[in-house]
Amino acid sequence: MSDALNYLLKVRKDAVEPYFKALKEGGKHLDIKTRSLLSVITKVDAQTEAGLKQYLVRALREGNSADEILDAMLVCLPTLGMSKIIWAVDIILQMNIPDFNPELLGEEKQWYRLTAVSEIEEGVSRHDYEGRACFIKKIGDGYQVFDSRCPHQAADIPLSALENGTLTCSRHQWKFNVNTGECIENGSRPLNKIEYKIEDKFIYVHS
Ligand code: FES
Repeated sequence: MSDALNYLLKVRKDAVEPYFKALKEGGKHLDIKTRSLLSVITKVDAQTEAGLKQYLVRALREGNSADEILDAMLVCLPTLGMSKIIWAVDIILQMNIPDFNPELLGEEKQWYRLTAVSEIEEGVSRHDYEGRACFIKKIGDGYQVFDSRCPHQAADIPLSALENGTLTCSRHQWKFNVNTGECIENGSRPLNKIEYKIEDKFIYVHS
């Protein structure tokens, strides 16, 4: 939610709350994937960059593929117009999200070899791969792998943001429990989990 809406919700709760209720009620017969796609379209139409980034990440998290998001925009071409779609795609490409890599669109997701299992330190470590990064939390023989990109607006979170088991995104101060990925302060969404597998003593992560 924008700072302005947060502010209005605090100082004019009675006037603003019905707006959110109407939004929620209006979409109650739609599945969550479709709703998240429609949210992306509204941000493209309004050309709000922060909103587009936020809802794009949410649409991916709700299970939409990059192809589906692009299709949703293109099917709305008559009302959005090509210039707004180009504006949106420029922003999406700047976000450097691997799902929108032209070489991967329409193809099977891939496994990337991250590192040897023996190299993974107890506790939390950060690993770069294919132009992005992830955190691995190692507890005994078990692992949790999280995307290093903040689920709010995709800011990359460095390992230096970790203090006493809490990762803090410097952009808007969302705080995450690094053991569970849960957002514990200032935000509403957990770190995105990344699928992994161990094979031949190496850890692989899904794109
Ligand atoms: S991008 Fe907003 S808190 Fe991380």
